[in-house]
Amino acid sequence: MAMHPQAAQLLALILLLSTGDGILAVGTPSTIITRTCAAVGRSGGQLGYEYDSCVGALSADPAAAAAKDAGQLALVATNLTVANVTSTVLVLDDLVKNLRDCLRYYRDMNKTLDAALGDLRAGRVEAASNKLSDASGVPDSCDIQLFEGSAKKNPMRKENTDADLLSRLAYAIATLPAPDPRHRRQV
Ligand SMILES: *[C@@H]1O[C@H](CO)[C@@H](O)[C@H](O)[C@H]1NC(C)=O
Ligand SMILES: *[C@@H]1O[C@H](CO)[C@@H](O)[C@H](O)[C@H]1NC(C)=O
Ligand SMILES: *[C@@H]1O[C@H](CO)[C@@H](O)[C@H](O)[C@H]1NC(C)=O
Repeated sequence: MAMHPQAAQLLALILLLSTGDGILAVGTPSTIITRTCAAVGRSGGQLGYEYDSCVGALSADPAAAAAKDAGQLALVATNLTVANVTSTVLVLDDLVKNLRDCLRYYRDMNKTLDAALGDLRAGRVEAASNKLSDASGVPDSCDIQLFEGSAKKNPMRKENTDADLLSRLAYAIATLPAPDPRHRRQV
């Protein structure tokens, strides 16, 4: 019976790894990395930084493998931090921009709701329904904007869901058909 292609690939990989060099050597941290990571990972040492996290973080930069001393590793770690912070700043930029837009949508929504309150108090149910219909679209707009943002973060999910449910409830109640005195039995 022919060997399954995936099983054959797996076997080839195992053979390659078991030769002891090649692929396996690439993943082995250098002595300076293991020594430095052990030093920062010591209990009572700098931060007690986890040994594995230290090796893992440094391995993200090929320059770490070539580092000759702790000073060069500090450079690599600082370099990695710069990349991380650059990404964090972009995430925050995007989030702040989208949250500002959400804030504007919700302030407008509040004005619309305020006007709908005025309509309802004055018995203008249809005018109120139209305003409630407009208002009920706002939470979704905020949600979609955050969803489509490059930050891919939505800190407003709960508030958007709450406002969506409540505004749709108000709209649904305001648009209930008025009881028709001729068809009371059906109501
Ligand atoms: C610093 O990071 C850049 C990319 O972010 C990389 O090209 C460069 O090799 C790094 N240098 C060191 C010393 O880690
Ligand atoms: C930021 O650092 C974390 C932890 O080392 C890492 O998992 C993540 O991929 C980094 N992000 C960027 C954009 O470099
Ligand atoms: C929303 O409108 C109400 C009046 O209907 C007002 O009391 C409240 O302060 C407004 N909220 C905001 C954030 O503008």
